[in-house]
Amino acid sequence: MSTIILAIETSCDETSVSLIKDGTDILSNVVLSQMDIHASYGGVVPEIASRNHVENITIVIDKALNDACLSKDDITAIAVTYGPGLVGSLLIGLQTAKTLAWAWDKRLVPIHHIAGHIYANNLVEPLKFPLMALVVSGGHTELILMKDHYQFEKIGGTLDDAVGEAYDKVARVLGLPYPGGPAIDKLAAEGEPSYDLPTPLDDDSYNFSFSGLKSAVINLVNTEKMKNNKINKANLATTFQTKVVNILTKKTLRAMKSYGVSNLILAGGVAANKGLRNSLEQMCIENNYHFTVPPFNLCTDNAAMIGAAAYYAYKNNVWGDLTLNCVSSEELK
Ligand code: KG4
Ligand code: ZN
Repeated sequence: MSTIILAIETSCDETSVSLIKDGTDILSNVVLSQMDIHASYGGVVPEIASRNHVENITIVIDKALNDACLSKDDITAIAVTYGPGLVGSLLIGLQTAKTLAWAWDKRLVPIHHIAGHIYANNLVEPLKFPLMALVVSGGHTELILMKDHYQFEKIGGTLDDAVGEAYDKVARVLGLPYPGGPAIDKLAAEGEPSYDLPTPLDDDSYNFSFSGLKSAVINLVNTEKMKNNKINKANLATTFQTKVVNILTKKTLRAMKSYGVSNLILAGGVAANKGLRNSLEQMCIENNYHFTVPPFNLCTDNAAMIGAAAYYAYKNNVWGDLTLNCVSSEELK
């Protein structure tokens, strides 16, 4: 008998509900983004995000069930992102999931948001182990080694800003709309790497640091403005993106070599970055590695990835009860 998970994701500004069969098949995936609402503030306003989740969650659940032509009786378990994320936003999804689990008498499966991003790749093709996951999002920059399903070993992470955060801040100083990542990515395809910017942390560890690079861009823009000099935004975006992509590719390759891993997966919102996708793909071709990356719509936050992860969590008896609470930050274990 197949296992059908109803998954809920509300960790930031997307209200999303998905129905996933056996960890691989998307029966429905409804994503209601609040991006336009938050864009006018230049970033996500937590209070506004939670209020919108409250208004939308039941509508999104109904649509996900209708799209899949399923009812509550077809569902095996209810999965939900319990963290990390904005607590007010997480609480809406969590409370909804607990209520459904109780009212419909289903198992509750708590999912770490980053496990979700990683398992977005399982919706492309079944994960092959051992693998290295490069997780790049608005809150994370991590290299995670997986020897089997639902076993996560972090081998490196960011010492300061997450890569998506650096993209968003650089975009803001360049006057680009929120979220900044896609705007910089687009500009970066049009320019030349003509500016002199520092190389991010290039040591023997698997850690990352992007705040120095980000600050260098901000200082450069402010200095040029004071001098009334014009900025070539495309060239600055290209220089910034080249620095980011090169160090991510270099450290990922070194990690794969030293851990003897030949499968790479890319995960998180910044996985939508064309420069990064191309660079990692090229690196994998050159080294005869297998590379998987989710389609663009499964890179940014969505409930399908939570449902995919939840299948393996459920099989590994990772179950929650009605005392389950959300967390704003927590390492993936
Ligand atoms: O995974 P995600 O949707 O939310 C978090 O869990 O953080 O990631 C959002 C981040 C934002 O910082 C956004 O600017 C970035 O992903 N992003 C991109 C691109 N698309 C989204 N960054 C670089 N290039 C892109 N094409
Ligand atoms: Zn995310």
